[in-house]
Amino acid sequence: MRVKDLVEIIESSIVSKPCIDNKEERGKNGLVMGNPDDDVKGIVVAWKPTRDVLRRAAKLGYNVVIFHEDLLYDFKPHPIVKEEVWRNPAKARVNADIGCIILRNGLNMVRYHTTWDDADGGNNDVLVKDLGLRLLERLPCSRLAELSSPTSLEEFARRVASVLKPPHVIVAGNLNLDRVERVLVVAGGGAKHPAIVDEAAALGAQVLLSADVTADTMFYAYELGIAIVDPGHHAMEEYGMKEFYRRLKEELGRKGYNVPVEFIENKPVARVI
Ligand SMILES: [Fe+2]
Ligand SMILES: [Fe+2]
Repeated sequence: MRVKDLVEIIESSIVSKPCIDNKEERGKNGLVMGNPDDDVKGIVVAWKPTRDVLRRAAKLGYNVVIFHEDLLYDFKPHPIVKEEVWRNPAKARVNADIGCIILRNGLNMVRYHTTWDDADGGNNDVLVKDLGLRLLERLPCSRLAELSSPTSLEEFARRVASVLKPPHVIVAGNLNLDRVERVLVVAGGGAKHPAIVDEAAALGAQVLLSADVTADTMFYAYELGIAIVDPGHHAMEEYGMKEFYRRLKEELGRKGYNVPVEFIENKPVARVI
C-alpha cells in the first residue's frame, strides 16, 4: 500500500469534508508533508504530533503519522517580546527539530483536522454518543444535543469527567445554573471564542462543552447566563482520535491490508495542584 492509497481509503470511508471552507483549512487535511508514492511500512495515530510521537514512530520503523493538531508552533509578533527568537532559524529549536526528525526518518505526515471533527462518528459525534446525549442538530464542527433528562451543572460536569477521564474539568460562567438540558458540543478549542459562546446561548443551550476557556469567555458566558464545561483540549480530542484509530484498523482489515497501526497517547503536560 502506498501513502496515496492509504489517504484514499481514509478520505473515502472515514473523514468528511472540512467544516471550515477556506484555503488554510483545506491545507490542514490530507498528506501535509511526505511522498504519496512511498510504501506504507507502518502507521502511528496520535492527537498531537509531538517530538515524542515522531521519535516513537521512527523507533518502530513506521513511516506514516496520522494526527489532528498543528505540527509546528505558530508565532505572531507580540509587543512585549523584544527578540523574536522564532524568526531566527538557528534559534527556533523546536520547530526546526520537528522538521529534522521528519526528514531524517522519512516520515509522511497525514493530518485530519476539521475533516475528523465533523465526520460521521468523528470527534463531535463520539462525544455526543458517549456522553449519552441525543442529537438535535448537526452544525458545522459542532453538535447541538440534549440530555435525556435534565441534570444539574455539577452532575453534567461529573458525567464528562467520568467519560473522558481528564486531569481536570473547568466549570465556568453561570455557576448557579440549576438545570442543564441542552448542550452545544464543540470538540477542541471552541471555548476561547466569545462568538461560539454567543452561538451556544442563541441556540438555547445552557452549556457550551468545549475547551480552552479564557477569562474573557468565562465572564462573557456569565453575562449571558450560560455555563462552559471545559475538560481540556487534550482529553477532549484524544478521546475522538482513539475512535479514528479503531475505525482505521477496521477499514484496513476489511480491505485486507496487513499494515501495523499503533495509537500513541500524548503525555500529560498539565496537572492541577
Ligand atoms: Fe479538533
Ligand atoms: Fe483541536
